[in-house]
Amino acid sequence: MSGSFIVFEGIDGSGKSTVCRKLAEVLSGRGIDVVLTAEPTHERVGALIRAGSAGNVSQRTEALLFVADRNDHTEEIERWVSEGKVVLCDRYFASTVAYQSSGLDGDRIDREWLIDINRQFIRTPDATILLDIDPSVSLDRVGVRGEAVSKFERPDFLKQVRTEYLNLAEEYGFEIVDASADADKVFQDVLAIVEEII
Ligand code: TYD
Repeated sequence: MSGSFIVFEGIDGSGKSTVCRKLAEVLSGRGIDVVLTAEPTHERVGALIRAGSAGNVSQRTEALLFVADRNDHTEEIERWVSEGKVVLCDRYFASTVAYQSSGLDGDRIDREWLIDINRQFIRTPDATILLDIDPSVSLDRVGVRGEAVSKFERPDFLKQVRTEYLNLAEEYGFEIVDASADADKVFQDVLAIVEEII
């Protein structure tokens, strides 16, 4: 079986991580060789971003760090796909374009520049699935999980991120799934799309 590379995108609390985990379980149960992975990664540059050790850098530098992490990650993804694995990736280049162009702290980065810095470091996914949801609903979910709210989880900011995701979906042909539906329905919708691809 040839490998494939499937990306999941969506705002915080859209349910991506849960859907990815369940999908990995179901596909593995069918004997498919699955790799579940995510960005920011937990390695090198990704760990730096997550630990906030690159704090106080400009928004553009932060965007470049996300892309640097992606460069290392893409090398691994290429290897997994060439080994015939189905790679499920929680966030990829659309996260950088959607989040970093959305004007956190008033510093809005030009989306074309963000697309440009990503271009030479990415592998084109076989599909990108956007879990679309209103931020007021998704932030309630984050609240229910009792997690600390990150700087990326403010409602007005996430409204912008959602709009930008929908623009990208149109431009790059992402599959859009209504993530406000109940968890089973969301999962079935995603599974149907994935079954078409692998
Ligand atoms: P997230 O998927 O929430 O990771 P985890 O659930 O493991 O904490 O990602 C962390 C945050 O990073 C999220 O709010 C979105 C943000 N982010 C960007 O702003 N740009 C990017 O390129 C990526 C990959 C993530």
